[in-house]
This record gives sequence, structure tokens and C-alpha cells, in this order.
Amino acid sequence: MIGSAPENRKAAPSRDALMRDAVAQLKTAEVPNPGREARLLMRFACDLDAAGLSARAGQQATPQEVQRFEKALARRLRREPLSHITGERAFLDHVFEVTPDVLDPRADSEVLVLRAIACAKGRSDGARGDGEGIRVLDLGVGSGCLLLSVLAACPQATGLGVDASPAALDVAQRNASRLGVADRVSLERGDWLRGIESHFDVILCNPPYIDLEELAELEPEVRLHEPLMALSPGLDGLIVYLHLAPLLRSVMRPQAVALFEVGHRQGEAVAQIFGAVDFMVVTHRDLSGVIRVVEVT
Ligand SMILES: C[S@@+](CC[C@H](N)C(=O)[O-])C[C@H]1O[C@@H](n2cnc3c(N)ncnc32)[C@H](O)[C@@H]1O
Repeated sequence: MIGSAPENRKAAPSRDALMRDAVAQLKTAEVPNPGREARLLMRFACDLDAAGLSARAGQQATPQEVQRFEKALARRLRREPLSHITGERAFLDHVFEVTPDVLDPRADSEVLVLRAIACAKGRSDGARGDGEGIRVLDLGVGSGCLLLSVLAACPQATGLGVDASPAALDVAQRNASRLGVADRVSLERGDWLRGIESHFDVILCNPPYIDLEELAELEPEVRLHEPLMALSPGLDGLIVYLHLAPLLRSVMRPQAVALFEVGHRQGEAVAQIFGAVDFMVVTHRDLSGVIRVVEVT
């Protein structure tokens, strides 16, 4: 009959049905948290926030959404990180652009950023406690998630972010614009402290700290897709701390503080490295009780 729908044409699947099918496939591929991953992929494919997806999960997906979802799912099944597929990652109060050139911002780093914001506000010149006049240095700035979060929380603070990777610096620059702090940050290519002549109140550093041996045990998302220079400094995960400890004073203002993120088994060793060159050392633990930050003054 002219104009009637062909009898074998299938109705488009609902978003729920697509997600159920995806969960089964993600489980088979041993992707952790398959339910959450399927929802996040669907939100990306349909450009919906969490509430929007809940309200529309039972409805049919459009053909474009199905295509986008299936493409994204295929990448995730190959263990590409979700952030590389969606191009972004939420970290504390902001969403950062993420590419394969930068470390995917980790929840592990939140302890360091919250402590840095408290230090910046505490060191404010005025009584306003907003980080006024404070200078912040981030060594190995990557996506900028640490430094830019601090600058966004301290509207009068300014910062310098250094990284050896020009591609990472491009991402950090775009994130600075995203967060509206581009006029308060300089991003420069460099090799840790080499050539830095100015002085800072708050210094942040989340260096590559994974031993080469340990690298082999990591999930494929990290091992195969994140930049090696962001993950590991080589055989010994402590090399960067050992390199920075004797040089750090040269960039610290009086009363300055430096905050180092450490691997889950490195807290004591890193505290000793800085203690040995006469720093006062305090450590901070994450919610599971693991030392995540070594603070030195
Ligand atoms: C663990 S990532 C941290 C990135 C970001 N700060 C974060 O926390 O998500 C370490 C960063 O150090 C950078 N890096 C590696 N070697 C460096 C060097 N010699 N000088 C400066 N940065 C370096 C890497 O490119 C990478 O962006």
C-alpha cells in the first residue's frame, strides 16, 4: 500500500533499552561501574544532564542519538577513558576540557586543591580572606585542574603554570578561558623549576609518581591512553620529589607553603625527603585514610 509504513520497520529503541544492552556489554568488557558508565554515555549522546535523562529514559532515542551512543559505547568497550570520549571531566566545582595530552583530573587531587584554597585564603594580605595578592605556582600543570580551581576560588590571586608538554599547555589555556581566569594566569613551557626567578605564596605539584613496574598493573584506560610523561618519571616514582626538594626554597616567598600530591604508598617517603632538607612537614589524608598530600613550609 502506497504511503504505509513497511511492516518490518523496527521502532527506535528507548534510551533505557539501549542502556540495558550497553550495561551487559560493558560488564563483559570488564569496565568498572557499568551502570554509571552507560548512563554517562547516554547523557553525552543525548546532550542531557542527569535530571533530563531520568525524565526521558523511557522515551525513544532519535536515530542521531542512537548512532552517537553506539559510537561512544564502541570506544568505551575498547577501554578508552570516558573523558576522552566526552572531551571533559568534572573536577570539584568545574568541568575541564580533557584530551589524550593531559592527565585525566582525579578525585584523588581534591584534597590538595581544597588545602591550597585554604592556604591561599589564609595567606591573604587583606582581611577579606579571598587570596588577595597571592601568587600560586603549579609545577606540571597538565589540564590546569589544580591551579585553575584555586584561582577560580580566590578571585584576587594570580598564577603561573609550568609544564614540559606544549600540548598540555594548550589544554590548560582553553580551560583557563572556560573558567574565566585567563587574565590571571600565565602558562609556560618549562622543566620543573628551571629558569623560574619569581617567588610564590602557594606552590602546587602533582608530579608523575608511578614506578615503571607499577604502571603495568594499572587499568587499560590509564596504561594505554594517558600520557606516559604525566604518569611516570621512570623506574623510581620518587625522582621528582628528590629533584625538587633542595631547589624549592628558591621560589618560596616568606610564609609560603608547598603542597605535593603523593602516590598511595609514598606519603612517608616523600615526607622524609622534604624533612631531610629542613622543611616543616605536615601530611593530609583522603577520606579512606591514605596520605595524599605532603605539605611543606
Ligand atoms: C601527574 S600529571 C599532573 C597534571 C595536573 N597537575 C593534574 O593534577 O591533573 C604531571 C604533569 O607533569 C608534567 N611534566 C612531566 N615532566 C615535566 C617536567 N620535566 N617539567 C614540567 N612538567 C613536567 C606532565 O606533562 C604532566 O602534565
